[in-house]
Amino acid sequence: MKVLDKSFNLFITSASIQERIAELGQQLALEYTDKNPLMVVMLNGAFMFAADLVRACDFPCEIAFVKAQSYKGMESTGNVELQLGLPASVSGRHVLIVEDIIDSGETLHAFLPYLQSLRPASVDICALLRKPTAAKREIAASYIGFDIPTLFVVGYGLDYDGHGRNLADIYQLDDSVF
Ligand code: IMP
Ligand code: MG
Repeated sequence: MKVLDKSFNLFITSASIQERIAELGQQLALEYTDKNPLMVVMLNGAFMFAADLVRACDFPCEIAFVKAQSYKGMESTGNVELQLGLPASVSGRHVLIVEDIIDSGETLHAFLPYLQSLRPASVDICALLRKPTAAKREIAASYIGFDIPTLFVVGYGLDYDGHGRNLADIYQLDDSVF
């Protein structure tokens, strides 16, 4: 499979993603039923995951979107720009950040202090993917879909230079060609 100039191999199928999301929904219900959490979705990458995750959450919740950009091409830059769209009413709310992937951790490391300054009742993180061996910042996330090796992935919302977000499955970079 090609996205722009790079070859990718099938890595996590749409069926496995949906199966894991159903489990995450059940796990989240144990914590958030009766808490009316505010799901804060990190754009752009998490849009598809969030759309499926909230439908797997059988309890009242609200959804807000923020945009924090740190990525250029295939490398995390550590420069995080926050373009925020948070409602003023975060104070006292139970916030669940919905993220596509935790890579270096820089994006959430930059975003969390800002979120905390809005005085939420609690903050936790649900990320579809995490690359534990790429971590530069320790990010406490209670809900993780899949821990994966430090390899570049596309699909299911994740992009390579803006492309590949529409793929239903997740693909990983074919590094055998180097
Ligand atoms: P971090 O700040 O390094 O944790 O990276 C967070 C953001 O970088 C994620 O929300 C993604 O949008 C993007 N990202 C990290 N790894 C990948 C990848 O393998 N493919 C596509 N985007 C990625
Ligand atoms: Mg992202």
